[in-house]
Amino acid sequence: MDKKQELENLHIKWKEECQCKLKKMATQVVPGDGDANAEIVFIGEAPGKSEDAQGIPFVGAAGKFLAKMLELINLKREDVYITNIVKYRPPNNRDPLPKEKASCREWLLDELKIIKPKLIIFLGRHAMNNFFPDLKISEAHGKLLVKKFKGMSTRYFFPLYHPAAALYNGSMRETLKDDFKKIPKVLKEIRKYEEN
Ligand code: URA
Repeated sequence: MDKKQELENLHIKWKEECQCKLKKMATQVVPGDGDANAEIVFIGEAPGKSEDAQGIPFVGAAGKFLAKMLELINLKREDVYITNIVKYRPPNNRDPLPKEKASCREWLLDELKIIKPKLIIFLGRHAMNNFFPDLKISEAHGKLLVKKFKGMSTRYFFPLYHPAAALYNGSMRETLKDDFKKIPKVLKEIRKYEEN
């Protein structure tokens, strides 16, 4: 079975089995989207209003900004895989609760185990703290993190500010763009490490 089919089956399974309380409040599930064979997986926080309406992650204002940043490095969203730590929209876009993050965690880990990306990019502190609970996004953004997690083949992680936070903050927006432009070099370095 190819990875695309494996991911489709995974989403069908977790749509049934996920115990997240947000399921009852959201319009629909928002599973990950993109290339099942991607080298890069982007992980955001949770779906917003547009994502909840369309069932696709990052299609609202933050998503349009993300697409523009992908263009900066000659990528389209179809070239990468985009997902969230929580698969259902929290009411009024509030932060997801620890319990809600925990309910969706295995789903996210299963996506990553199928795709096996070379690089995981965290969009914002919620995604980063799901894997690195002690780090601060203001200190860790734009720096490559290397860590081996049990059962996961990906060892390279790159935290960025969340595009929604940077959208209306000029200096954060410039920092995010500068960090984004580092991605091709980071990927090149990872390929080099993996050869050795
Ligand atoms: N913000 C997120 O974190 N995820 C989305 O899918 C949209 C906005």
